[in-house]
Amino acid sequence: MQRTISVASPTNHEATAIATEPLSETLVLPARSTLFHVIDPRVFERPLLDELCDLATRVRMLAKSDEGARALRDVLPTRRAMLYFTQPSTRTFLSFNNACHILGMRTSEIRDPSTSSEVKGESFEDSIRTFSSYVDVIVMRTKESGRAAQAARLMNGIPRPVPVINAGSGSDQHPTQALLDIYTLARSFDGQGSIDGKVIGMMGDLKRGRTVRSLCYLMKNYTGVRLVFIAPEQYAMQADVKAYLDQHGIRYSETTNLDGVLPTLDAIYVTRMQTEWDTAGESSAVDLGRFSIGERELARLKRDAIIMHPLPRGAEIGPVVDQDPRAMYWRQERNGMWMRVAVLIKIFGAEGRIPATV
Ligand code: NCD
Repeated sequence: MQRTISVASPTNHEATAIATEPLSETLVLPARSTLFHVIDPRVFERPLLDELCDLATRVRMLAKSDEGARALRDVLPTRRAMLYFTQPSTRTFLSFNNACHILGMRTSEIRDPSTSSEVKGESFEDSIRTFSSYVDVIVMRTKESGRAAQAARLMNGIPRPVPVINAGSGSDQHPTQALLDIYTLARSFDGQGSIDGKVIGMMGDLKRGRTVRSLCYLMKNYTGVRLVFIAPEQYAMQADVKAYLDQHGIRYSETTNLDGVLPTLDAIYVTRMQTEWDTAGESSAVDLGRFSIGERELARLKRDAIIMHPLPRGAEIGPVVDQDPRAMYWRQERNGMWMRVAVLIKIFGAEGRIPATV
C-alpha cells in the first residue's frame, strides 16, 4: 500500500514537498502530517488532489451553518500564520487570511518590504528564519522566482522548521492557484465524469502567466486530458512546460485562432496580459480582441463548457460574460478560500478534527 508522506525534514535539505513512500516506512517516522511545504505543483499526485478537493467540499458545507463555522474555528486555534506578500495581491492574500481565520488561526503580515528589517540590510534568510520563530506556517508571494523554494530549503536545515507555502513566485509558479483551479474544474465536471478526458483551453499571456504554468503541471494526474494553448505567438507557452507535458504524455496543441478551437473546448481558462513584466509596454501591441471572450464567443462555446480566469481580469472578459451560467470565475475565486482551508488542514494533519456533521 502506498501513502503520501512528507519528505521535508530538518535533515533533508533538498526535498521541498512530498513524495510517495511505502506505508511501512512511514511507521518508523515520527508522526507528521502528509503535506509540509507547498512549493512545486509537480509533486502532487492524484490521491492527494482528490483528498484536498473532498476536504474543501467538507469545510465548504460545514461553514454554511453557524454551528459548523464555529466547529471549524476550533480546528487550529493555537496555530499562527505569517503572510509575507511583497508582491501585489488581492485574492490570494485575502483568501489565505480568511482561510486561516476560518480555522481559528491567527495571522501576521508583511505586505510592504519597506516595513521589514530587510531595508536595514537583513538577509532574506535571516528574515525568513525570524518569521519562523513566531509562527507555525509561512505563506509567501514574491516578485522573484524561486524565493519560496529557497525559504523551504532554509527551513529544512533549522531545528524548528515551519512549512512554507508558495503563494506565487515571480512568473514561475502559483501552486495553490492550480489546486483551486483543479477544485473548480472537478466541481464543474462533477456531473460529466470528472476532469479526465476533457479538452481544456488556456488563453492569453501563457508565457509569463504563472497560473497556467502550474495548472499544466497538475494535468499529469488526469487521463485523456487535451490542452489547447491559444496565445499570441510572442506570448506562447514556454518550452519547459511543453517538455513536461511531452514527458508525461499529455496531449496539447497551440494556435493563435480562438474561433477555430472554441467549439471543441470543455473549459476555457482565460488570462490577462502580464504587463508588469513588460520592459517597454510591448504587450500593448497585442490585439487583445483576438484573445477575449464576449457575446460572439459565448454563442460559439459549448452549452456546458465553463469559463475560468484566475483574476484580476482586463478587457479579455467583458462584464457581459458575468451573467452567463458558464462563467465560473467568481465561484473559482471563492473556491480558492476553501481549497486553502483544505491545504492548511492537511499541512497540520487536522483532518480528524473536522466534524463529519454538526
Ligand atoms: C494571478 C497571479 O497573481 O498570478 N492572480 C491570482 O493569484 N489570483 C493571476 C494574475 O495576476 O494574472
